[in-house]
Amino acid sequence: MASSTSLRLLITVMMLLFHCSSAVALDRIACQFPTPDPLAGCPAGTLLVGPPSTGAPFSSIQSAIITIPNDTTSYTVLILPGTYTEQVNITRPGPLTLLGQTDVPTNQSYNAVTVAWAAVAGPSDNARTSTLTVAPPRGSSMGSTDFRAYNIDFVNDYAPYSDTPSLAIDISYANAGFYYCAFYSYQDTIYIGTLGNSYMYSSTIAGQTDFLFGYGTLWIQSSILSLRSCGGGITAWKGTNTTFDNMYGVYIHDSAVLPENATVAAEEVGKCALGRPWNAQHRSLFARTYLSPEIRASGYIPWQETDPRIDYNTTMAEYQTYGPGFNLTGRLDAGVEFNLTQGPLTAHPILTEEEYISGGYSSPETIFQDDQGTFGYTGWIDRTPWL
Ligand SMILES: *[C@@H]1O[C@H](CO)[C@@H](O)[C@H](O)[C@H]1NC(C)=O
Ligand SMILES: *[C@@H]1O[C@H](CO)[C@@H](O)[C@H](O)[C@H]1NC(C)=O
Ligand SMILES: *[C@@H]1O[C@H](CO)[C@@H](O)[C@H](O)[C@H]1NC(C)=O
Ligand SMILES: *[C@@H]1O[C@H](CO)[C@@H](O)[C@H](O)[C@H]1NC(C)=O
Ligand SMILES: *[C@@H]1O[C@H](CO)[C@@H](O)[C@H](O)[C@H]1NC(C)=O
Ligand SMILES: *[C@@H]1O[C@H](CO)[C@@H](O)[C@H](O)[C@H]1NC(C)=O
Ligand SMILES: *[C@@H]1O[C@H](CO)[C@@H](O)[C@H](O)[C@H]1NC(C)=O
Ligand SMILES: *[C@@H]1O[C@H](CO)[C@@H](O)[C@H](O)[C@H]1NC(C)=O
Repeated sequence: MASSTSLRLLITVMMLLFHCSSAVALDRIACQFPTPDPLAGCPAGTLLVGPPSTGAPFSSIQSAIITIPNDTTSYTVLILPGTYTEQVNITRPGPLTLLGQTDVPTNQSYNAVTVAWAAVAGPSDNARTSTLTVAPPRGSSMGSTDFRAYNIDFVNDYAPYSDTPSLAIDISYANAGFYYCAFYSYQDTIYIGTLGNSYMYSSTIAGQTDFLFGYGTLWIQSSILSLRSCGGGITAWKGTNTTFDNMYGVYIHDSAVLPENATVAAEEVGKCALGRPWNAQHRSLFARTYLSPEIRASGYIPWQETDPRIDYNTTMAEYQTYGPGFNLTGRLDAGVEFNLTQGPLTAHPILTEEEYISGGYSSPETIFQDDQGTFGYTGWIDRTPWL
């Protein structure tokens, strides 16, 4: 009796383990750490990508991606150190994690994997330029519900200055988390399109003109915004009317805005704008973020002098920003940062703690929505990426 009970218990436990295995947190650090067998510590079925000299089964990331079924099962791809010159296009709905091999998995500056492309839109479609795209094929409903990338740098370096749009990533109709990653381009570096949700942690985002732009929702946490020159604004968002209340916009928390190097620091003092409204329903917030001297006295700016695109629905906000780029007199004089309900913030341009909390700005739960508008849509975010 006793032994058959424990046997049954053992079988039950094993079945539970088997069924839960896809839900058990991936030990990404064990998988990423360089070992004689690179796949040691990785989940079964992990695909290995490496430069040809490594003998890895795939020598480009996209050649591995296209072998993954178009379904909702979870997949992991481990990428060995190298520069991969290619466009990566993720269309499948299921969870997918891209891991860059590294022995410092909690610091972006040691990343050894770069995905590089060089394209500008010119007169054609911005989206075609992107180094990484996470989006379903046009016409199908939703793309990845849970895409993640760790320790990978994405570069689009067509020209060392703003030419026309040149995207490092395009996230549309999909959820995408980036941890210890970097994004380098000059114009329109990060595009979060319709029904795109993205979360970035401890990452570096470098750009010159409108380098955080889109229609969807982006939360940037504990990261660096690296100014390569000044043009447009850092944020340029286009709000949309939906049948439900939405919080589409870009929210930068506990981060730092810094010049990319000493040349930029010397040449751009007081010239860079926090953002400008792509349409009047632009929504962006810098919270508890250090602003370097390159930020102009007004903070934000109108879209253009003759086409300001600022009205009562425009949110161009700051909360506890600090550093030499924060000039209260300059903000008050310009009066372009808006009170959500009352018009120009002539009294005080900066959200109070109460406004910050009641406005729903203080947590990803009150920001991220599913495609029906339900808040709290955050299951795809890794809240403890350092583990
Ligand atoms: C990453 O490492 C660099 C170089 O050692 C260091 O300067 C930086 O502070 C580290 N970043 C983080 C987030 O720990
Ligand atoms: C990605 O692949 C899908 C499906 O093949 C295609 O419709 C789409 O145009 C591709 N996107 C890019 C940016 O290459
Ligand atoms: C994947 O499957 C979905 C649903 O059947 C379909 O809409 C989509 O076009 C497929 N994607 C590709 C790249 O074939
Ligand atoms: C500084 O950064 C700018 C913008 O990326 C670049 O054009 C310039 O070459 C860099 N200068 C140095 C000395 O690295
Ligand atoms: C949304 O509705 C407001 C108020 O009716 C209107 O002014 C605005 O143009 C609309 N925006 C879009 C993008 O449709
Ligand atoms: C825009 O602001 C006006 C005036 O406060 C308000 O009546 C309207 O509902 C707002 N529209 C949107 C789309 O938020
Ligand atoms: C702050 O902005 C005002 C313009 O509104 C300007 O006169 C002043 O010099 C600025 N202060 C600094 C430290 O840049
Ligand atoms: C916006 O206006 C309301 C009503 O006048 C006021 O209570 C609130 O403090 C203002 N908010 C800001 C950020 O100025």
